[in-house]
Amino acid sequence: MDCRFLTRDFEREHLFRLETYVGRGGYEAAAKALKTMTPSAVLEEVKAANLRGRGGAGFPAGVKWGFVPKGGDAPRYLCVNADEGEPGTFKDRFLMGHNPHLLLEGMIIASFASGIRRAYIYIRGEYEHLARRLEEAAAEARSAGWLGDHIAGTDFGLDVFVHRGAGAYICGEETALLESLEGKRGHPRLKPPFPASVGLFRCPTVINNVETLCCVPDIILHGAPAFLRRGLPRDGGTRLFSVSGAVARPGCYELPVGAGLRELIFGPAGGMRGGRKLKAVIPGGLSAPVLTAAEIDIALDGDSLAEAGSMLGSAGVIVIDDRTPVVGILSNMAAFYAHESCGQCTPCRIGTAWMAKISDRMASGRGRAGDLETIVRVAESLRGRTLCPMGDAAALPILSLTAKFRDELQEAAR
Ligand SMILES: Cc1cc2nc3c(=O)[nH]c(=O)nc-3n(C[C@H](O)[C@H](O)[C@H](O)COP(=O)(O)O)c2cc1C
Repeated sequence: MDCRFLTRDFEREHLFRLETYVGRGGYEAAAKALKTMTPSAVLEEVKAANLRGRGGAGFPAGVKWGFVPKGGDAPRYLCVNADEGEPGTFKDRFLMGHNPHLLLEGMIIASFASGIRRAYIYIRGEYEHLARRLEEAAAEARSAGWLGDHIAGTDFGLDVFVHRGAGAYICGEETALLESLEGKRGHPRLKPPFPASVGLFRCPTVINNVETLCCVPDIILHGAPAFLRRGLPRDGGTRLFSVSGAVARPGCYELPVGAGLRELIFGPAGGMRGGRKLKAVIPGGLSAPVLTAAEIDIALDGDSLAEAGSMLGSAGVIVIDDRTPVVGILSNMAAFYAHESCGQCTPCRIGTAWMAKISDRMASGRGRAGDLETIVRVAESLRGRTLCPMGDAAALPILSLTAKFRDELQEAAR
């Protein structure tokens, strides 16, 4: 059964053009929301759909929008997180490239529900071509009356700006993103206060991932029950899985939330490349704890993966074969987090550097007795002790590798 709804029109030529998008029913959901629904009715529909954030943390979108203080003329903002920095994740690129108007339509509806009139798309610097595509789409939408004042002849208006980041992983963390958008160094802020009350320029701000917002038009057009039927009752819709690594057909695949990991790898992704054996899978972007080959009979939803000690995160599925030494994965991983640590807080700055240094010597055959224990101790000292969740993002996958592949890693630490 074809379960695609986010990507169902992707084979259409020039879907990124307004004319094609409108020809496929585009902007009907925005018209329905703005002309026939109240902001609180839109909010309730999205809450009922159990739309969980697609950026990493899986927080319910409707609940988040509900935290924004309503009423009055005080400025409020929407920030779209298009930073897509999580290694192994390339789904937002796919969405923005094929269907930028779907994102704009989701932004219009989210802003209407939250009383927002100004929105920013924060896009990573490397996505220059996509930034241009979004700017072109926004210009088309503006000239057709889907952005600017009096959208669809109503009192509601929205301005959209595309802002290019500079390719720093930490700027995907929502508060670092806000700092960067304000023109400052991308250093995370302490939470609370959360952005919904104190966000961009100290004003209430909704921050959502690209894919999260792309789900919204369907929810408004077909209703929350239809969205829930596409996925699970507690976690609605489909997800775009970015599959990379040792599979025959790496790519971006849309499947219902709760689809099986084994079915994804051996179905759409074509199974193991060159008939190799599966060794491990990182199921939710690099920061998700690893699963062994024996653990892949699992449903791809946030709750099931959390029960198995991992997470769905950004749904970046990295498949590892039996030829790949775990010590190489460990040192690659540690080098990435050391390079990307913003340096603001000491445990992350020093801890990631130590893990990188030790795992590098293990990977290059210079490991010493006790190296593995030191890495575990350093990773444990990061957990829950950093200013932002980046400390956990670095520590948890490393701890899972050291726990699940201890014997192989012990060999490298001799
Ligand atoms: C180190 C770090 C990097 C992150 N990078 C991204 C990113 O590239 N894109 C994204 O959408 N969320 C990223 N997040 C999650 C955001 O902080 C935030 O939870 C998300 O944008 C909220 O949107 P959602 O609720 O729609 O998922 C990152 C979080 C951390 C801690």
